[in-house]
Amino acid sequence: MAQAVDLTDLDMWARGVPHREFTRLRREAPVAWFGEPAPNSGFWSVHGYADIVTASRDVATFSSARGISFEEPTDEDMAARRTIIDTDPPEHTKLRKIVSGSFTQRAVAVYRHFVEGLTEEVLDTALAGGEFDFVDAVAKEVPIRVLARIMGLPGADLDTFIDLGDRLIANTDPDITDVVWGRDDTDAYRRYPFRSPYGKQLWDLGREIVAGRLRSPGDDLLSTLLQAEVDGDRLSETDLDNFFSILVIAGNETTRIAIAQGILAFCEHPEQWDRLRADPGLLDTATEEVLRWTCPTHFMRRTAMAGTELGGTAIRAGDKVVLWYVSGNRDEAEFDDPATFDIGRSPNRHLSFGRGGPHLCLGAHVARLEVGIVLAALARRVAGFELAGPPRRIRSNFTNGLRELPLRVRPA
Ligand code: HEM
Repeated sequence: MAQAVDLTDLDMWARGVPHREFTRLRREAPVAWFGEPAPNSGFWSVHGYADIVTASRDVATFSSARGISFEEPTDEDMAARRTIIDTDPPEHTKLRKIVSGSFTQRAVAVYRHFVEGLTEEVLDTALAGGEFDFVDAVAKEVPIRVLARIMGLPGADLDTFIDLGDRLIANTDPDITDVVWGRDDTDAYRRYPFRSPYGKQLWDLGREIVAGRLRSPGDDLLSTLLQAEVDGDRLSETDLDNFFSILVIAGNETTRIAIAQGILAFCEHPEQWDRLRADPGLLDTATEEVLRWTCPTHFMRRTAMAGTELGGTAIRAGDKVVLWYVSGNRDEAEFDDPATFDIGRSPNRHLSFGRGGPHLCLGAHVARLEVGIVLAALARRVAGFELAGPPRRIRSNFTNGLRELPLRVRPA
């Protein structure tokens, strides 16, 4: 039977991405129904590239307003914690307009020098020891500091941001958080981000920082949010809480995953590392291939607003629809040899930032800048990588996170 795999089995994901199962599902059941244990209601699982893009584009039918994860929050819960990512047009368009100018390729280019300096500093420390955990020493260090620079976050709080972000994104991993979604009774936290008490802590920290910024505005993104108007009104306290939390959460862990899983890919394909070192002109295509291959966010969920059809399958109004970007990124109908890690791949219209719809990752240019700069710096300084122990994955079907990547490096 096509659905024999259970895509909600997090212990399976902790062992690895079920690429073989997705390959079979794309062939045998490109849009398939999966049941879920109560209180959840089950979901349509979309595996093919073209169907994912079609659903992303059709926001009137496939809404983000009921959330983008498997969770099924009530309207009241949603109202308290709705961020830009779970908003439909026209509200989404207004929120996006506030921040889009800060994230264009041109706006982001001003951070190049800063990211290069930061990366060299981080590598000076990391590479001084012959053997180290790449996640802790490198992948974790760069994204949060870049985000702090863009948003104007105080340096003293960065470790707390990392910790809270981890506990939220990895809210299904008991090694990372003591309040586990699907295991613990999280009803008391249902109005907080990720249905977690740590979501409330992130809001509180955000409010302290916002209060400071109100006293002394700067030219950072938080100040932009504080001065923004939508339909003649300033953003409400709830809007600010949620904008703050989505930016911290979305910009940190995802980029960390791309960097760490990208280096793991080069450990497993050393000939591609040699190729990049021999031809720095491949940096841009290598960055895109790292993003396709690592797919830091495995899926986004939508909810059908009306009865419709996707990939020849009838979907009812109210049904949950999960778009598996991680499967679309390996779709044979879109990519030649999708199971090959090829740093020269072109074209490479991967789905790692989403595609076709208005929610396309706001931070895509920031992420590309960071991944490209880290790869370029490592290519200059490291002749090769070797695993110094088994990588440890996060227990999640939402992110492709690594907790640990023990490495030995051969200096260039
Ligand atoms: C490799 C790194 C990253 C990956 C893989 C990633 C992935 C994604 C994905 C899949 C979406 C949803 C797209 C959709 O629904 O179609 C998204 C949205 C978003 N991302 Fe990223 N992201 C990354 C980095 C960043 C960074 C660095 C920031 C901020 C500095 C950021 C901020 C956002 C925001 C605010 C949204 C919501 C946009 C909206 O709803 O309009 N992301 N991202």
